Amino acid sequence: MDTHLIKTVNKLQDAFSTVGLQNPISDLPQIVVIGSQSSGKSSVLENIVGRDFLPRGTGIVTRRPLVLQLINRPATPKTNGTIKNENQDDIANDLTGGDNIDEWGEFLHLPGQKFYKFGEIREEIIRDTEAKTGKNLGLSPQPINLRIFSPNVLTLTMVDLPGMTKVPVGDQPKDIEKQIREMLLQYITKPNAIILSVTAATQDLANSDGLKLARQVDPEGSRTIGVLTKVDLMDQGTDVIDILAGRVVPLRLGYVPVVNRGQRDIESNKTITKALTAEKDFFERHSAYHSKAQYCGTPFLARKLNMILMHHIRNTLPEIKAKIQNALVKYQQELTQLGDPLGDSPANQANLVLNIITEFCNEFRTIIDGNSNDLSS
Ligand code: GDP
Ligand code: NA
Ligand code: MG
Repeated sequence: MDTHLIKTVNKLQDAFSTVGLQNPISDLPQIVVIGSQSSGKSSVLENIVGRDFLPRGTGIVTRRPLVLQLINRPATPKTNGTIKNENQDDIANDLTGGDNIDEWGEFLHLPGQKFYKFGEIREEIIRDTEAKTGKNLGLSPQPINLRIFSPNVLTLTMVDLPGMTKVPVGDQPKDIEKQIREMLLQYITKPNAIILSVTAATQDLANSDGLKLARQVDPEGSRTIGVLTKVDLMDQGTDVIDILAGRVVPLRLGYVPVVNRGQRDIESNKTITKALTAEKDFFERHSAYHSKAQYCGTPFLARKLNMILMHHIRNTLPEIKAKIQNALVKYQQELTQLGDPLGDSPANQANLVLNIITEFCNEFRTIIDGNSNDLSS
């Protein structure tokens, strides 16, 4: 996620906690991935977060919903008094490194236990999945709740879901298709869900299960982003240009083609950093994509998500401002009655927040005006 956005949103959240107001943007959209089994959903989410922690692989790997809350928490100053460098680029560029004391995960089902090694987070997801669903490919709608605390993330929620499938295997019930569909609908029906509808580029888009389901809850396509995975596996001489141009199944927010790590990359533990570099090279070198490489790949997808989040926040700002103004009037009336001078009073603090928000609105407008082309491209 874009560090500029992270900082700007943090500033606003800090301003609110200063006056003890409830976090006004706690209602940030949830990003939910849907699509067929093995289309690459978990891979896409992991690349966006920029950390290796999700089970991925062939067949049905994700067998319970994973509700992932990313929580921004500033880095703790180092003991020698210098502040940890907060100017890191995207978290995506900071992934290889060792385990960092400022980043950890916590599971709801293991209160108080901090996981600093992301590989152990993945092991725990697998362990708890098996504990609740058995080892024989069973599914459960009971979510795994994981929180990741980090200075490099935006406070928001992402949901990884089992893939859509038609034929039951192992311990799966006969009506597996219906059960999964209902599980997914629970998450994508929420009006603040941003749907990442993932389809492998090697499949026929017109038959995309994810797109069909998304259309049911978002017929206008105002919160559905199409993601095309496995572009690297397409037959030579074929490409997704017609899809990107909206000539196949048009989508208001468009499609983003990506290249995730393949099964062999998973087996050889290829890092996210290497994968992102390979993805960039792929689009830049491919004759069909090189002229539009800036609209391809995970970083573009992340930017697009940022834009949608910013629009959401901007839309809620007027309401927040009105609330603070009301509080301010109330405080001032109380003070006048008491005959107290303004000091470190609530009124003074509310005034301070109002100033920050006004500044914030201006900053936002600048960011949005500078980027709004991204949304329609
Ligand atoms: P999910 O079932 O939809 O969550 O899909 P996963 O993320 O688990 O990926 C399923 C399989 O497809 C894994 O073996 C991945 O390595 C592979 N895969 C996913 N995306 C891509 C891609 O863009 N290119 C290639 N070559 N393989 C991919
Ligand atoms: Na899979
Ligand atoms: Mg998965």
